Amino acid sequence: MDVYGIIGNPVGHSLSPLMHQAALDALGIPARYAAFRVQNLAAAVQGIRGLNLRGVSVTLPFKTEVMTLLDEVEAGARAIGAVNTIVNDNGRLTGFNTDGTGLIRDLREVMDIEGRRFAVLGAGGAARAAVFGLVQAGGIPVVLNRTAQKGETLAAAFGCDFRPLAEAAGVEADCLINTTPVGMAPGVERSPLPADVLGRFRWVVDIVYTPLRTRLVTEAAAAGCRTRSGLGMFIHQGAEQLRIWTGRTPPVDLMRRVVEARLIEAG
Ligand SMILES: NC(=O)c1ccc[n+]([C@@H]2O[C@H](COP(=O)([O-])OP(=O)(O)OC[C@H]3O[C@@H](n4cnc5c(N)ncnc54)[C@H](OP(=O)(O)O)[C@@H]3O)[C@@H](O)[C@H]2O)c1
Repeated sequence: MDVYGIIGNPVGHSLSPLMHQAALDALGIPARYAAFRVQNLAAAVQGIRGLNLRGVSVTLPFKTEVMTLLDEVEAGARAIGAVNTIVNDNGRLTGFNTDGTGLIRDLREVMDIEGRRFAVLGAGGAARAAVFGLVQAGGIPVVLNRTAQKGETLAAAFGCDFRPLAEAAGVEADCLINTTPVGMAPGVERSPLPADVLGRFRWVVDIVYTPLRTRLVTEAAAAGCRTRSGLGMFIHQGAEQLRIWTGRTPPVDLMRRVVEARLIEAG
């Protein structure tokens, strides 16, 4: 039986085991997907080889650090500067990043990307994946970030504009995408932007999905915006992982159903 898993710290909250196990079972692949809380990253990565884990998801705080421990990093993940997926080919480990693809697939379910302007809030790993994916898909991102230097560096890396977070009210964009963790449980009372600037965006997307309806999403809906949670991005980044690992077509609807049910159950 093949073994897959997620490495991170903490990982107890991760919905990846639920999502991936349901998908592997539905595809009839005899495999187990487990969560591994990492004490020592280098030893854990060597353990992937030693235990012959077939494929591994990588979560916080290791998405960048893990890159130096792999045999190869695919060009997209290198450009993003983070790996969220490892493939083990007989001990040879290759890193990929499926976060950008996940976001783009989710956005494409509801909107066109080419030629549209996207205000990307944040400049961390998720923002880099979002900007990379948007540029690849022909979108025009503008980066908004609290720390100007970090935002400028990200914008320069992908040839797009930067605006300080405080100037959000002056940004023209079709869609705002929050990639900061602000509003994520347990800090659910927080929002990364004041409610009165939201109405200028036709779409507001929050890549946070715990809770499913963040304060940002609730306030954006009240301001007349169309909204999207991070659930779809999470499902699609996982589906792309499964496709990379197994070559099979992932059961996306099933994956969405099991994760959504768990999130609703959790409130
Ligand atoms: N839906 C999905 O599939 C998916 C995938 C990946 C990540 N995520 C979520 O995305 C979020 C960010 O992840 P990450 O890896 O990019 O984190 P990260 O690397 O730590 O980056 C966080 C970014 O948020 C900004 N930020 C943090 N607190 C802020 C505040 N109070 N006000 C304004 N800006 C603030 C930081 O700004 P500074 O530069 O000023 O510090 C930084 O740019 C997490 O909640 C994660 O769960 C979702």
